Amino acid sequence: MERPIIDEHTRVLVMTGAGISAESGLATFRGAGGLWAGQPVERVATPEGFAADPALVWRFYSQRRAQAAAAVPNRAHRALAALEDRLGDRFLLATQNVDGLHQRAGSRRVVEMHGSLWRTRCAVCPAPPFDDRTPVEPPLPRCTRCGGLLRPAIVWFGELLDAADMRRIERFIVGSSPGRAPLVFLAVGTSGNVWPAAGYVGMARSVGAVTWLVNLEAAENVGAFDHFVQGPAGEVLARLLGVDDAV
Ligand code: OAD
Repeated sequence: MERPIIDEHTRVLVMTGAGISAESGLATFRGAGGLWAGQPVERVATPEGFAADPALVWRFYSQRRAQAAAAVPNRAHRALAALEDRLGDRFLLATQNVDGLHQRAGSRRVVEMHGSLWRTRCAVCPAPPFDDRTPVEPPLPRCTRCGGLLRPAIVWFGELLDAADMRRIERFIVGSSPGRAPLVFLAVGTSGNVWPAAGYVGMARSVGAVTWLVNLEAAENVGAFDHFVQGPAGEVLARLLGVDDAV
């Protein structure tokens, strides 16, 4: 099987989505059985949905907290943590996932583009988000600073991604401009439907990256990749990255 060339100069930017946690038993978003099937996205993943029915939104994210807490990282998460051990600062993992499984597998250089299930913030004032693992039930919790309702620290549709997160990803890509260290861009378990995540493959290509997609099915943006390896992330990544971890 063809593999990405990762030598002592190569920098690797990984972009993961819900598919990488599927083998840990967590549902993806799109398609049959996905989190968005039978669940209108705008009711649970927009500021307007939260304003209309905060208890429903908290019920949804409390269930996801419980499911993610019960899940364990799989072979794919571990393969990426092992790669980071080898590459150090030549590695960056941008994830759209909010489940925290990458960190539990040992990944440290992680950008959580869409926020985290494990943080809560005020829906009204800029009080900093705080760590929170508890399921939330009515009466809904309120901000100690301004009295506004608290909400999950997830980036919902219609909201901006954290500018510092985007800069960190872009700086990593630009740090690999032509003439500098070669860049491998590897997307795993993502349908390529959501921007800006789906666009980083294009930015990486513009600086000469070799681009790989590992996914169960062809993603929306599959045409933007040099290589597409179809299959379950755990098995494929262990082979592609040469990680000997059969569990
Ligand atoms: P999706 O549900 O859109 O796509 C998951 C992809 O993973 C699909 O293309 C599947 O084919 C693939 N897949 C499933 N099981 C797999 C496995 N075992 N190995 C490899 N691939 C597998 O999820 P995302 O692309 O992550 O945003 O969705 C992006 C964003 O849309 C999410 O972060 C979320 C959602 O709305 C927010 O909630 C803000």
